Amino acid sequence: MCGIVGAVAQRDVAEILVEGLRRLEYRGYDSAGVAIVHDGQLGRVRRLGKVQALADALNEQPLAGGTGIAHTRWATHGEPSERNAHPHVSGNIAVVHNGIIENHEALREQLKAKGYEFASDTDTEVIAHLVHWHRQHTDSLLAALQATVKELRGAYGTVLMDVNDPSRLVVARSGSPLVIGLGLGENFIASDQLALLPVTRRFLFLEEGDVAEVTRRDIHIFNSDGQPVTRAEQESEVTHDAGDKGEYRHYMLKEIFEQPRAITDTLEGRLSEQGVVVESFGNGARAIFEKVEHIQLIACGTSYHAGMVARYWFEALAGVPCDIEIASEFRYRKSVVRPNSLLITLSQSGETADTLAALRLAKESGYMGTLTICNVPGSSLVRESDLAFMTRAGAEIGVASTKAFTTQLVALLMLVAAVGRCRGNMTEQTEAELVRSLRSLPAHIVSTLALAGDIEQLAEEFADKYHSLFLGRGEQYPIAMEGALKLKEISYIHAEAYAAGELKHGPLALIDADMPIIVVAPNNELLEKLKSNVEEVRARGGILYVFADKQAGFKGDATMRVMSLEHVDEVIAPIVYTVPLQLLSYYVALIKGTDVDQPRNLAKSVTVE
Ligand code: AGP
Ligand code: GLU
Repeated sequence: MCGIVGAVAQRDVAEILVEGLRRLEYRGYDSAGVAIVHDGQLGRVRRLGKVQALADALNEQPLAGGTGIAHTRWATHGEPSERNAHPHVSGNIAVVHNGIIENHEALREQLKAKGYEFASDTDTEVIAHLVHWHRQHTDSLLAALQATVKELRGAYGTVLMDVNDPSRLVVARSGSPLVIGLGLGENFIASDQLALLPVTRRFLFLEEGDVAEVTRRDIHIFNSDGQPVTRAEQESEVTHDAGDKGEYRHYMLKEIFEQPRAITDTLEGRLSEQGVVVESFGNGARAIFEKVEHIQLIACGTSYHAGMVARYWFEALAGVPCDIEIASEFRYRKSVVRPNSLLITLSQSGETADTLAALRLAKESGYMGTLTICNVPGSSLVRESDLAFMTRAGAEIGVASTKAFTTQLVALLMLVAAVGRCRGNMTEQTEAELVRSLRSLPAHIVSTLALAGDIEQLAEEFADKYHSLFLGRGEQYPIAMEGALKLKEISYIHAEAYAAGELKHGPLALIDADMPIIVVAPNNELLEKLKSNVEEVRARGGILYVFADKQAGFKGDATMRVMSLEHVDEVIAPIVYTVPLQLLSYYVALIKGTDVDQPRNLAKSVTVE
């Protein structure tokens, strides 16, 4: 899941390439590099670390030239280092690559036997040498790339250039996204349209298997059979207000506080006086919703937690059996497709490799249809699903997902209402109550955000801890899981979540004064059970942090901190109770001094498996 930017222009492109990398840094930030052709020479600068290190180096050592490629890396093969940083070179050929070449070892041996010497430990370098080899036996760089991709196994989005012919770039897409940005007398390539918004809003989205040649004025695209194809030009719908943090210290904090607006935007135009507008889920949605007998949710990470919440809703509110599974497990097991089962993928990026692979598998497995709930217009999941519903959260830059998660839950609640009504399992009154709760949500989030100062203080008590346990029951159990994921991924404190009723089956043995227990406690029918679980912990000396409905009757004392939230309708409580957990993880990470927006070892969009 790296970031790729390429340009073929008349003007110098170094700044465009570096700005593009900055906008893609959320995709990976182990190292960064750029290669530009100028006066028949290849200028290449690479640096370990973030894009800023590369920018600093280019300030010292500027690169002129109108044809170039650039890359910000998330290492899969070969440690993060300058020598493993892209672009990689073989003679006159330079390459950048996103993905994994699974047969790189065999190719490396074949290429060594042909006399090639390897300068890096990466899988990517085999692409450079292969194209160099084929270029000597074909009549164009494009033909050399077409011959090369026939030998590659795995996933790649790759861009190459030939120092001896700087008039063009060639690109290939198979498993990792690539878009072509259209300029005036210049054209661009990137992993994500976000990178190119400063120079264009016109894009062609390459499809799986596409190979293309891009010059300043022309674009020729060929499918995996070598047949010429055209891809429709699209105007970007991505809002580019994510370009800066405004008055916020981190993108994550900005995105936490953007949630009321993001939820308002997600609801807009999808609720009528009568209820949820079924057609919001696309043409043909109603026909599917009227017949659906099973829902199969597939996602990863935070999006998986959203699916876990939705499973409770689909069964309790829409009366439809529902399963949720992690994409990386689903795609490799023999699963049984239920009759009239609708496959739903959940994804912020729309490019998560495991989720995309699961969708493609499902499309050949007899599901009645596919729907994706996604935050990035034009992403692969959106383009490859029968139906798509956009969460309209705006670009989410912080690696730890926040507004994408809460808007996914809003979208899922609307979907549950639409399906419940189409199946005749939900009364008009129930739908009206649900819509009323949804309309009240932005205001409740604003009230909850007002707790930020208190939570920032509470965070002090976590800074010296190494382990923590999050507890919830019912649809709050996935919220506890989401809170644990947030804390561990940005503060590096080990955190795990348990269904509170499970404590006595083992985890209770962990309880001591050094292991803070965080509990989400809305005022619902499981409250009394949850209170018993809290007593089990207190009786063993545990220190509790309870985020509770102020009507739930929790009283704080020396071993139990209570953070009271205003009463909210039960159906939206999972969404509201997410916010204090996001804030807690943010402030703990702040105290620990970690890189909140780009935590170590992670990337925002996991486009490799
Ligand atoms: C969330 O905080 C994580 N960064 C990660 O788990 C993320 O949710 C996961 O990689 C799925 O990404 P997606 O929603 O873009 O598919
Ligand atoms: N597999 C390549 C490498 O490790 C590319 C990784 C990426 O997508 O950034 O360099």
